[in-house]
Order: sequence, then structure tokens, then C-alpha cells
Amino acid sequence: MKISQPAPYHLSKIIPQKLPLLMGAGPVPIPPEVAHANSIVINHLGETMRQIVSGIQSMSQYVFQTSTSKIFGISGPSSAAMEMAVTSLLWPGRKALVLNMGTFSARFGDLARGVGADVTELFAGERPFRVEKVKKVLEAQAYDVLTLVQGETSCGVKNIELDAIVKLAKSYGVRVIVDGVSTISTMPMQVEDWGIDIAVVGGQKGISSIAGVSLIAFSEETYDFVSKREERMPHWCLDPRRAYRFWNLGEYHYTAPVPGVLALYEALRLICQETLEKRFERHFHSSKTLQTCLEVMGFELHTPAEYRLNSVVAIKNPGNIKTKELIPYLIKNHHVEISGAFGLDIIRVGQMGEQCRPQNVRRLLEALGAGYKAFGVTLNTQEALAEFDTTQERTVALSFTGS
Ligand SMILES: Cc1ncc(COP(=O)(O)O)c(C=O)c1O
Repeated sequence: MKISQPAPYHLSKIIPQKLPLLMGAGPVPIPPEVAHANSIVINHLGETMRQIVSGIQSMSQYVFQTSTSKIFGISGPSSAAMEMAVTSLLWPGRKALVLNMGTFSARFGDLARGVGADVTELFAGERPFRVEKVKKVLEAQAYDVLTLVQGETSCGVKNIELDAIVKLAKSYGVRVIVDGVSTISTMPMQVEDWGIDIAVVGGQKGISSIAGVSLIAFSEETYDFVSKREERMPHWCLDPRRAYRFWNLGEYHYTAPVPGVLALYEALRLICQETLEKRFERHFHSSKTLQTCLEVMGFELHTPAEYRLNSVVAIKNPGNIKTKELIPYLIKNHHVEISGAFGLDIIRVGQMGEQCRPQNVRRLLEALGAGYKAFGVTLNTQEALAEFDTTQERTVALSFTGS
């Protein structure tokens, strides 16, 4: 059979001339330094790459707050990093306790069942897990691994007792895997001090890099355990012992996604330059200002303030507007993109990395006001924008007085 030559459009005919501002749950806008790095190709092996890789590892130690030398980049989405974590520690006969708060924390269960582990899922609804609840389960039965997420982005909920839950699990001899995909570098996570065995993060959220290159940190002791396991690893690409060869010894594993690795380097460098303290403060301030303005506008936030995730804010959808129509409308008419949800009647807006810039938050508020109005829901947009401007002026004044 002869396949005839297609006549594809030039990319510029497909991609809109004015790109939408990505204010959804990820991917997020990337800084120019990251975009530039993402356009460079060098050899994936050799001295230059060695320097890049060791820079990524030392910067990641800072970002994850861990001294481990077992930090690997993964050519794949955050889910691939989750998969490496789960398949390293679980196999048939091993028991996993999965703390399920929604789509992403539930994914750990799917991955664990995929390698034949015995999975128990604990549900909290759209609420954080409490230490007492987890304790009852750990007392009743022995587990090898516990998985949980710091921020469940599907419903905008934060696990406020994460630190205590990890410590509790460790006291029962259970290894802990934490998904910090939307939270690492936006809010504190002390991987080593809290005793987390494996932590994962994706590129396209808080880190403000590109999607498809992720990071995983194994504690030294956990990596040692994995390196001695006799059970065969189910994956070749996602085998941490093979990843170690590239990331720690500079040897061939597979051809790394060079531009993505360089983009990650730049994204981490910008985080180090900003410092974690200032970055957390920027995220907190930006998200809280946005939340206040959304409420002034007349929106109701989906998650109570006590355990609301700041990095992805879930908002009740007023007027039962069809979000499948609203979202394309906002992109087409206001060049702003937000996210819908997995079955819940909410919209979700991101506050990760470059999304936490005043000009971006203001554009989001304007777009939401105008977009809902076009669908017949009138909101207090002018009041919300006035509140936003006043908050910004106050911030600028405070920074001048050094308060
Ligand atoms: C908390 C969390 N974990 C995991 C994922 C999966 O990320 P990816 O789509 O990069 O595999 C996401 C994506 O939105 C997420 O928000």
C-alpha cells in the first residue's frame, strides 16, 4: 500500500498568533531563560552535560531540601516519576496504603495495582487526611509503603498534616512516597527532615519549566534498599539503578531529552536565585490576593480556607455555566486559559511559578469577569480589580519602606 504525501499546515497556521496566558492547573508560562534553554541541543553525554546534570542535582537538593545524592531527572511526565517511585518499592506480595483525596493521589493506587501489589485505599473525600485516621489503619495492619499528595490539584485541597503523617508512617516502619508535583517550590516541603523516602515533582507546575521532564529524589537509605532488591524491575527506562548510571556516573542509559534537561537547569537556577523563602512568600501573597479578589467578585471558593491549596485554587462555577463552553470562549476572546475539573462543577486557576505575577493575576480577573458576563452571570469585576490594585499599591509602598 502506498501512503500518499500529506499536506500539513505550517505550525504558525495552527498555533494562535496571540498565545493564551496559561492560568490553569498546568502547564504554566515559562520564563524567557527557560524557553531559550529549551531551544538548545548539545550532546547528551560528555563534560558539558556532566556539569549540567550535577548542577541540576545540587540545585534540586536545595529545592527538595534534602542532602541525598540520589536525585534523578526522568524523561516523562510527573506520572512517570510517580511510576518510578511506586514500581521501585512495590511488587507482588507487598502492601501499599494509598491516601486518596482525588484524581492524582488515586493514581498511586492504579500504579501499585499495575505491579501486582496489595493495595488498600483510604478515602478522605475532598478533605485532608488526619493523623488519627491514618494511625487507626496502620495499627490494624502492616504496610510496606504509604503514598500521599501534598496538594491534590483536582479539588484544590492541601494535606495540612503531611509532616505528621509521614513521621507516623515511618514510626511503623512504612516507606513514604510523596507527590509534590504542584507544590514543590511553591510552599515548604522538608523532604529530609520530614523523613520522606521518595518525593516527586513535574517540570510544568511550580518549577515553571516544560512538561515531560520530571524529578525524583530517593533518600540514600531507600535507594540502597531498591538497589539490593532481588525482584526484577518491571521497567527499563524507569529503573532507578539505570538512571543512576546517567545521573551519577555520566554513563549512557538512554538519550536524555537534552533541551528539556537544559530548561530544567535554568528553571532551577531561577528558583535558587530567587531563594525558596522569597518564592514561597511570592506564591502565598499572590494566591491570597487572588482568592480575596475572587470573593469580592462574587465567586465562592470550593475549599475551606483551613486546608485550601494555594497553588491551584478551586472555584465554584456560578450559574451552572457549561465550562466546556466557557473555557474556549476565554481563550478565544480574552487569550486566557483556565482549567475545568474532573467531574466536579468547579473551575480551577493556577498560582504556580510565573502565574504568580501581578500582571497575570489581573488579566485573569478581568477575563473571568468578562467571560462570565458573556454567559449571563454578572460579577463585581470592577470592585475586584480595585481591590487588586489597592493591594498591589500597598505591597509596593511596604517594599519601599522596607517593612
Ligand atoms: C498533584 C499532581 N500529581 C500528578 C500529576 C500528573 O502530572 P503529569 O500530567 O505531568 O503526569 C498532576 C497533574 O496535574 C498533579 O497535579
